[in-house]
Amino acid sequence: MKKREETEALALEALDNAPPSSQLAEPLDYIFAEHFRQRVLCNMLDEIADQERPDKSAIEAVLRYLRVEFAPHMQDEEHDLFPMLRRRAEPEDRIDDVIAQLTQEHAADRLDAKLITEGLAKVLAGKAKTGEASPLAKLLHRFAENERNHLTLENAIILPLARIRLTDDDIRNLAHRMAARRNIKLEEAGNAG
Ligand SMILES: [Fe+2]
Ligand SMILES: [Fe+2]
Repeated sequence: MKKREETEALALEALDNAPPSSQLAEPLDYIFAEHFRQRVLCNMLDEIADQERPDKSAIEAVLRYLRVEFAPHMQDEEHDLFPMLRRRAEPEDRIDDVIAQLTQEHAADRLDAKLITEGLAKVLAGKAKTGEASPLAKLLHRFAENERNHLTLENAIILPLARIRLTDDDIRNLAHRMAARRNIKLEEAGNAG
């Protein structure tokens, strides 16, 4: 395979495969792994945006991810990780403003993700176009850029602080909540590979 095709195949594989269930036992690692997939998503969106005839399988992978996996990840953070972190943080952590910002960004990203899903579905149906000058390209690039900044903030501030402040009980709780959200039994997850 040529270099570019190899890279594309690896990207598709990363986007199509959730982290192994066993990793849910270490929920912060699971979230970090999800962030890697979202970086792949951003790169694919940038590629699709500028192509007049984007790869159909790339679009389908993006649609699957945005329809199925994007929402649960944001719920992991908004419903579980962020509230836990607020409870455990020390005043000098000054985490409230960061969490408020990230939550606002989630709301904006949800809206963009919906528009992207609708737009790309139309592209597949031959009813809309991508390509450098298209309105859809602008939207895809905007989402990718916002999302990269968001991931950087979460990886640089939220996850390291969570590793310091959350208790063992919090981590177990987080693991159970995230597993339940994905209909996975944690005992099975813990025993699997
Ligand atoms: Fe995240
Ligand atoms: Fe987030």
